[in-house]
Amino acid sequence: MVHVKILPDKAHASEEVAQMLHDLIVEKPNAVIGVATGSTPEGAYERLAEKITENRTDVSQLQFFALDEYIGLPWEHPESYHSVIHRCVTVPLGVEPAQVHVPEAPDDSTVGPVDDYDQKIAAAGGIDLQLLGIGRNGHIGFNETGTPFNAPTHVGELTEITREDNSRFFEGGVDEVPPLAVTQGIGTILKARKIVLMAFGEGKVDAIRDSLEKPPAEERPGSSLQLHDDCTFYLDEAAAAKVGHS
Ligand code: F6R
Repeated sequence: MVHVKILPDKAHASEEVAQMLHDLIVEKPNAVIGVATGSTPEGAYERLAEKITENRTDVSQLQFFALDEYIGLPWEHPESYHSVIHRCVTVPLGVEPAQVHVPEAPDDSTVGPVDDYDQKIAAAGGIDLQLLGIGRNGHIGFNETGTPFNAPTHVGELTEITREDNSRFFEGGVDEVPPLAVTQGIGTILKARKIVLMAFGEGKVDAIRDSLEKPPAEERPGSSLQLHDDCTFYLDEAAAAKVGHS
């Protein structure tokens, strides 16, 4: 069952999600939070950082687990997810790098499971709240079409649509976007106690409709979230434009 909240715009949705995250942190100072990269959650991280500063919130016991990372991009590259998470989460929230985990796989990885990330998450107590964005083609994390719903953290291939969409972050364009990434699997994501997916803009409208209104199927990774007990989509009006019309 997925709950849907439609907000007027990204700013309102980011504020609500930041407030919910801040409430969780106050209630459970050792919470384990799953964090997404990409442009969707940036506003929520900024607002959360402001709330932490304003309230002098204790963040010293939190743990963060990133969703994914490119393979073959040095961690020092400004668009590696190690760098993005450091810039958008670790530094603004004022947490120590040791509290923040990003999946890793050797540079010569090929498609298949990656051993220890799921064990690390379990050893931390499991994820209390997992933040997600969604790709234009419906991917969550880097779980592209066809990923089994029980997949653990693994190395997968990025589709051309995903590489093109993400090329906006790379000076060298699509050729610079790695073809492989390590990602929490859909099985990993579904183990989180609570899931919050944000989606903004008309580019996400079909992915959102398919995730919410078509039967869960591996060809629609976002539709796996219908199988979770406590998942909420925070949408702006543009991303929600085709919800409830089928
Ligand atoms: C990011 C991630 C991806 C993005 C998705 C949307 O860690 O796993 O699934 O959430 O590609 O990206 P944006 O937010 O840039 O539209």
